[in-house]
This record gives sequence, C-alpha cells and structure tokens, in this order.
Amino acid sequence: MSDSKAKNKVVLITGAGKRVGAAIAEYCHQLGMRVGIHYRESAQQATHLCHRLNQQRPDSAIIVGADLCKTDKLEELILTPIKKWGQLDVLINNASSFYPTPLGKVTPKTWEEIVASNLKAPFFLAQSAARYLKQHKGCIINLVDIQAQRPLKNYSIYCIAKAGLVMLTKSLAMELGPDIRVNAIAPGIVLWPDDETEFNEALREKIIARNALKRAGTPQDIAKTAAFLINHADFITGQTIAVDGGRSLGY
Ligand SMILES: NC(=O)c1ccc[n+]([C@@H]2O[C@H](COP(=O)([O-])OP(=O)(O)OC[C@H]3O[C@@H](n4cnc5c(N)ncnc54)[C@H](OP(=O)(O)O)[C@@H]3O)[C@@H](O)[C@H]2O)c1
Repeated sequence: MSDSKAKNKVVLITGAGKRVGAAIAEYCHQLGMRVGIHYRESAQQATHLCHRLNQQRPDSAIIVGADLCKTDKLEELILTPIKKWGQLDVLINNASSFYPTPLGKVTPKTWEEIVASNLKAPFFLAQSAARYLKQHKGCIINLVDIQAQRPLKNYSIYCIAKAGLVMLTKSLAMELGPDIRVNAIAPGIVLWPDDETEFNEALREKIIARNALKRAGTPQDIAKTAAFLINHADFITGQTIAVDGGRSLGY
C-alpha cells in the first residue's frame, strides 16, 4: 500500500503510543513514511508499536518520551527524529489531555495541564519544527475537535484549548506559508474515552443518534485524512476538516 509521495517522509506524531495517534503512525508507516512515536506514560505500547514497525521495515520507527507540560523539553522532542534521519517533513499534534473540569472545581494546575497538551505545546513544537519543515515544504496537522465550535458541558478548558488550536492552525498557516501548510482535523466520535462512567452506554447512543451517518468513526478514518493532508493536499492550508459522520451539521 505504499504511496510514492509518502515514501521516506519523516513524520513526528505526539501521543502516538496508543489509540488514534498509534493508528496514524501505523497508517503513515504503511504508506512508506518513517515515524517518530512520541509518548508520555504509554512507554510499553509505544515500544511495542515501534518494534513491530521496525520489524516490517528496519530503521523506520523511533520512540521519544516527553511530558508536553515541560515546554523546555519540546525543542529536544523535535530534534530527536532529525538527529536520527536528518529531516522532518510532518508534525502531527495529536496528544491531548481530556477530562471534565466543571466550574468551581478547576485549579490553575488543571488549566495548565489541559492547555499545555492541547494548545501551548503545539505552538512551541511548531515554532521549533518550522525551520526543518521549511526545508522539505512540509506540513503541520493539528488534531482539534468538533467541540471547538460548540461547547461540551463541563469540559470548558478542553473546548477553549481546542478552539485556540483552530486559531493556531489559521495563524500559523498564514505565517508559515508559502513553504509550510498547516491544517487541522476535527474528529467527532472515533474512539470512546477510557472513562466509561462519564461516557456510559446511554450517552454513547445519544451522541451517535445525533450524527447523520448513525455510527462512530474509526481511528483509521482520521489516519486516512491525515495521509490525504500530507500527500495530496498541496493547495490546502489553514483549514479544519471535520471527520465526524455529519455530527457538526447541527445537533
Ligand atoms: N477519540 C475521539 O473520538 C476524539 C474525538 C474528538 C477529538 N479527538 C482528538 O483526537 C486526538 C486523539 O484522540 P485520542 O482519543 O486518541 O486521544 P487520547 O487518548 O485522549 O490522548 C492521546 C495521548 O495524549 C497523550 N498526552 C496527554 N497529555 C500529555 C502530556 N501532558 N504530555 C505528553 N503526552 C500527553 C497521552 O499519552 P500517554 O498515554 O503516553 O501519556 C495520550 O495517550 C486528540 O487530540 C483528541 O482531542 C479525539
């Protein structure tokens, strides 16, 4: 399934040890790209994925651990795939902290953690990556959320951060053109959060009933969209593509 446009590109994906980020890493790799798999706590899953990809194609995957709240470590994160392969073509800001923050219970630490992974780190990673991406007419993809447009009750900080990330996408597209394209993907439901008490069966059915396609998507739907933006979207920048089964049409 290799793609001549993808072959040998180097892509760094944050939060890629498991779930959507791992699916993006795997799909990009299948197309012929070399992948930097960033993780924070999911060291075991990231190591396992990396090993599997390197078995398929030697020297085609590496792992890099970092807490995105530590802004002074972000430059190092960008430099890891560059030290290994001498280039960086794509940065995918996928990592995200997602949990409820009902008003009255929010501490500055909570604010900082959610804003760091969803907004602040994507900015500083983009800033560090820009000069390398420029050399290869590369691109940045930010994972946002349809809830950046319409608030999700009790998740105000997450929604604020993702709304900021949509604006970051537009701002950087303007600032980094013509050499670097910057786009975002806004998933609807593609994988339920691990916390089953918050997203119980009844709520899941209610959410699915609200989208036009009456089903959840899959991580592969997001991975394929990322691959399209990397390899086949030369005249697209500053845009957010909703991959949501039509949920954003109106609820
Ligand atoms: N899943 C969906 O249906 C859905 C819907 C809408 C939007 N999205 C967006 O799509 C992206 C992927 O979704 P997902 O559900 O796969 O994400 P997720 O599982 O909630 O989070 C992805 C990874 O982010 C990493 N992370 C969080 N805080 C971090 C920090 N401070 N430093 C470093 N890494 C950190 C974690 O890595 P470790 O495990 O290694 O700690 C985590 O595994 C996210 O941006 C999400 O907001 C997803």
